[in-house]
Amino acid sequence: MFWKKNKDNKDNSTSSQESTGTHDLQLRTVKVIYDGEEHEFDVKPDRSILETALKLGIDLPHSCQSGMCTACMGKCISGKVFLRETDALTPKEIEQGYVLTCVGHPLTDDVVIQID
Ligand code: FES
Repeated sequence: MFWKKNKDNKDNSTSSQESTGTHDLQLRTVKVIYDGEEHEFDVKPDRSILETALKLGIDLPHSCQSGMCTACMGKCISGKVFLRETDALTPKEIEQGYVLTCVGHPLTDDVVIQID
């Protein structure tokens, strides 16, 4: 048995994140679950989820802060997240709802991100 890889397969996507388009970014409340703790905070339209967390003293994993290294990757388990940059994520990761908090902005008020 072998697999035929189709890198551009985005059919049946049930992703919880969006990567393109123009969005009406607003102040939104997000919840991030990391290291056994839940952190809920408001994210301004001009700030990423990671940037906001770090300013609040919430120490989430990160490195490049520009969407290149995936150190900040988490899974969006509720709501929708707009990503300014998606090149570091595979199509499969995007399809599964993985997001990068350093370039992620909440689009809905029910965003919950789980970081392992
Ligand atoms: S910190 Fe490197 S991709 Fe987010």
